[in-house]
Amino acid sequence: MPSAAVSHPPLRVALLGCGVVGTQVARLLTQEAEDLAARVGARLELVGIAVRDAAAPRDPVIDRALLTEDAEALVERADIVVEVMGGIESARALLLRAIGAGAAVVTANKALLAEDGPTLYRAADDAGVDIYFEAAVAGAIPIVRPVRESLAGDHVRRVLGIVNGTTNYVLDQMTSTGAGLAEAVKEAQDLGYAEADPTADVEGYDAAAKAAILASLAFHTRVSLEDVAREGIMAVTADDVAWAAQTGHVIKLLAIAELHDGGGDRSAGSAAEGVSVRVHPALVPTSHPLAGVRGSFNAVFVEAQSAGELMFYGRGAGGSPTASAVLGDVVSAARHRVLGGKGPQESTYAELPILPATAAVTRYQVRLAVDDRPGVLAQVAQALAAHGVSIEAVRQPTAPEVQSTGAADLPTAGLAQLVITTHAAPESALAATVASVAELEPVRAVTSVLRVEGA
Ligand code: HSE
Repeated sequence: MPSAAVSHPPLRVALLGCGVVGTQVARLLTQEAEDLAARVGARLELVGIAVRDAAAPRDPVIDRALLTEDAEALVERADIVVEVMGGIESARALLLRAIGAGAAVVTANKALLAEDGPTLYRAADDAGVDIYFEAAVAGAIPIVRPVRESLAGDHVRRVLGIVNGTTNYVLDQMTSTGAGLAEAVKEAQDLGYAEADPTADVEGYDAAAKAAILASLAFHTRVSLEDVAREGIMAVTADDVAWAAQTGHVIKLLAIAELHDGGGDRSAGSAAEGVSVRVHPALVPTSHPLAGVRGSFNAVFVEAQSAGELMFYGRGAGGSPTASAVLGDVVSAARHRVLGGKGPQESTYAELPILPATAAVTRYQVRLAVDDRPGVLAQVAQALAAHGVSIEAVRQPTAPEVQSTGAADLPTAGLAQLVITTHAAPESALAATVASVAELEPVRAVTSVLRVEGA
C-alpha cells in the first residue's frame, strides 16, 4: 500500500466523455487512487463525468452518481478537466471555459488540436494553466512529451510515423494473407479495429491530424490539418502489396514531416527552406524498423541532428492504452498544482514556411503495362531522363505469379510489366514524368505509382 505523505487538499478532476477511453480513465482514477495520490502528493477526486445521455447503459465500473449532462457546470468546479469526448465545437467551447475558470486541461482530441490548437494554447498561456495532449498522437506511445521536452535541445530533421492502427492493420492483413482492400477493411470492422464508417482512418484524415501535431512540435512551427498533403489507402491493391513483397518492401500508410534546409545553409534563407508534411501509402524496405510494425500497432521514427535515429512503438488506440497516456498527463498537471510550476507552452519561434507536397524529394516505384517488343524500355527510359529523373532499377518479371499486367481490364498476351524504381526526385518532376510516360504509344497503362520511404 503506498504510504507517501499526502498533505495537499484533494484535486478535483472532471471527465468530459465516457466512451471507450473515458470509461478506462474513470476506472484508473478510481482503482489506482492510492498510487496516484502518492505520486502526486494529493488525492485525485473524480467529481463528475459529462455525457450526452446520463440514462444510457454504462460499464459497471462507472459510478452513475458522477454522470451529468451539464458539462458547462462541471468544468467550472474542477482543477483538472480531461476531454475525451471528441468533436470540434463543443469540445473547444468546454476546454476554453475550463481554462477560463483556471483549470488545467488534458485532451486526446487530435482533430481539435490540428484544426485550432493555437487558440487553446494561447488561452492556456494567458490563464497560466497547463494544457497536455499526449493521448492525441499514437495512443499509449509517449511521443508528444519526448518530442516537446526530451528533444527540446536537439534539432529534429524528420519524423516518419505509422500513426493509424486501423490502416496499419488493413495493410498488414493484405500483406500477410493476400487479401484485397475491401476484404481487409471488412475484417478490421468485424474485429472492432475500424469504425462502421472508416473514412477518417482509410482516407488518412486521422493520420494527417496527428502529423500536423507532431510537425508543429518537432519544428517549432504552426502546422494545421490543411497544411498536410493527404492520400489514404483506398487505391492500394493486392497487386501493389504483392509487388512490394517482390521488391523487398511492405506498404505502410506513413505520416511524414520533414525539414527542408534550403540547400544546407539555413542562414542563406533559401526559398526551399521550410517544412513539408504529408500522409500517403509508401513502400518501406523490409529492413527498416517501421516495416516490422504489424497489426494495429503504431510507431514513430524520429531523426534528430544529435540524437540520431529514435523509434517509439506501441499501442496507438484502445481504451486502456489511451487512458494510460491521459493519466500520465493528469499526473503531470496535478503535480504542478501541488508543487507549483507549469508545463511547456506552445513553441513556434522558428515560424518556418510550410512547403507544398511538391517540395518533397523521394524515390518512386512506377509499374507500367507495356507492349512487349524491342525498344520500349529505351523509350520509357528516355522519357524519365528528359525530366531529369534517374533510374535506380528496372525489373521485368518473368515468374508466373507476377506475369499479370496489374491492370484488370488489359489482356496479358503481348504485354509485359515494367517495374521502375527511381533515384530520389522531386515530387513535381515525378508528376510530369508519369504524365509523359503514360502518353508513350507502347505504354498501355501506368498501373501504380508509389513513393519509397525510409531507404
Ligand atoms: N482510429 C485511430 C486508429 C485511433 O485507427 O489508429 C484513434 O486515433
